[in-house]
Amino acid sequence: MQTNYELLLQQARAITDGEPDLIANLSNLSALVYEVLDDVNWVGFYLTREPETLVLGPFQGKVACLRIAFGRGVCGTAAATRETQRVVDVHEFAGHIACDSASNSEVVVPLVVNNQVVGVFDLDSPSVGRFSEADAAGLTQLGRFIEELNWPQ
Ligand code: SME
Repeated sequence: MQTNYELLLQQARAITDGEPDLIANLSNLSALVYEVLDDVNWVGFYLTREPETLVLGPFQGKVACLRIAFGRGVCGTAAATRETQRVVDVHEFAGHIACDSASNSEVVVPLVVNNQVVGVFDLDSPSVGRFSEADAAGLTQLGRFIEELNWPQ
């Protein structure tokens, strides 16, 4: 089923409106996206907590790897290149980090605030080719909204 990203963005605005706490907002956003998108098995955030290192943040899904260096895997590639990664088949992606063996396709949106990569927004699906270019564009738009949240300076 195609996702209505305009509606998803409205819902994202509604559930974060008036709440300044970043972790609370990222937690609910991961729950919202996990619920609204069909055929996903992991939705969440990795946050840049140390230089060039992504550390697991709020998410929905199975237990995941804790730390990912910039440049490693799909998440680290998104962080290093600052470009959304849309991977049709993760088994074809050199260096993909398999957290949940059920995952077969993935989108990762880098989050950049004040010219710093503050984290990434990661979505996994059990289906090869789950994410279309329209999904990647919609999720990147959502990422632009997430960058406007109350990130620590
Ligand atoms: N597959 C990701 C690792 C994170 S998990 O999917 C939650 C990667 O290659 O970066």
